[in-house]
Amino acid sequence: MNVAFYGHTRQYHGIKNEIDANITKVLESGQYVMGPMLKQFEAELAAYTGKKYAIGVGNGTDAIWLTMMALGLKAGDEVITHANTFFATAEAIWIAGCKVVLVDCDETTRCIDPKAVAAAITPKTRAIIPVHLYGQCAPMREIRKLADQHKLLVIEDNAQGIDARGDDFRIGELSDAVTTSFIIQKNLGTFGDGGAIYTDNAEVDSRVRKLRNHGSPKRDHHSFGFNSRLDDIHAGVLSAKLKHISEWSDLRRKWAARYDAGLKGVDSIVLPHQRPGYRHVYHLYEIETRNAADRNPLVAYLNGKGIDAKTHYSIAIHQQEGYPWGKDAEIRGSLANAEKNAASCISLPMFGELKAEEVDYVIDAVKSWKK
Ligand SMILES: Cc1ncc(COP(=O)(O)O)c(C=O)c1O
Repeated sequence: MNVAFYGHTRQYHGIKNEIDANITKVLESGQYVMGPMLKQFEAELAAYTGKKYAIGVGNGTDAIWLTMMALGLKAGDEVITHANTFFATAEAIWIAGCKVVLVDCDETTRCIDPKAVAAAITPKTRAIIPVHLYGQCAPMREIRKLADQHKLLVIEDNAQGIDARGDDFRIGELSDAVTTSFIIQKNLGTFGDGGAIYTDNAEVDSRVRKLRNHGSPKRDHHSFGFNSRLDDIHAGVLSAKLKHISEWSDLRRKWAARYDAGLKGVDSIVLPHQRPGYRHVYHLYEIETRNAADRNPLVAYLNGKGIDAKTHYSIAIHQQEGYPWGKDAEIRGSLANAEKNAASCISLPMFGELKAEEVDYVIDAVKSWKK
């Protein structure tokens, strides 16, 4: 049996009529950039997230640095994030001209460790970017508390956690703005690139709207800006998919529970940890080998059995070749947990349209390793 890592075409076939209808609507409208479908999707996303404003942009990386610029972050400002996030979180901080301060993750959830953040704050710190890594919310209460104590901005990088929740907080409730990515492999993904920002902050809304469109609030009027817009065709795809996101998250959670039950007690690996009361949406079902030396052989073993297991992310940001490429960066404290995560992580196939026999085949394969 072959088990794919992604189910893009299966998902498409499941709601083909809805997606095709929206694409046709855009094609027939004659308006493909900043047209009515983008406006519609932005309104739907704002309603879904419970925020006053949602702004579509070119991708999830741009969403972060555009938000940073809109919030007035500038050269020399220190921005704290964790070393085992996807590279783009740090990259966006550099693009915005700020200093990346890398701290460790929590050893069980792999999200940012608030104790490490607290120890890394200096008078130059201006912002924290927690990431809802693998689809589980970062500890936002603790982050908010630190931000209040030190008057810091908080931007949630929610590229991986749309539809996730904390135990007593929603995404967007405890921050200045939330950014997300709609690249195809995300839980809410289009057939290409896309991203968005959502916030209650009217200034962030109006600044990002200008920045994403050549600094233009209206025709022929410009200030400094960029071109980073969410195309209407993508907005149409996302509008169709947004209606299904909760049911798809539920399916991911169902497969995660099946993996959990089937892999319980396998000594050589550690299973993902869901914080009590949290709604983890399993963008990735990430296991770790107890022994880092086992990681590559286990991935190769699974691949050999037709299972497309991957790693997210096997090289932490500070371990990338050439880091930090002359950019402003500093490691504060030990990064032992992030390094352990990078050395031992394995992502098993995870998407809503998986079949029970595929999940069971993966479980059996992991269990048969070393036997
Ligand atoms: C945590 C995180 N941040 C940022 C990004 C960047 O998004 P994009 O690829 O749309 O630029 C991604 C995904 O790619 C991500 O996983």
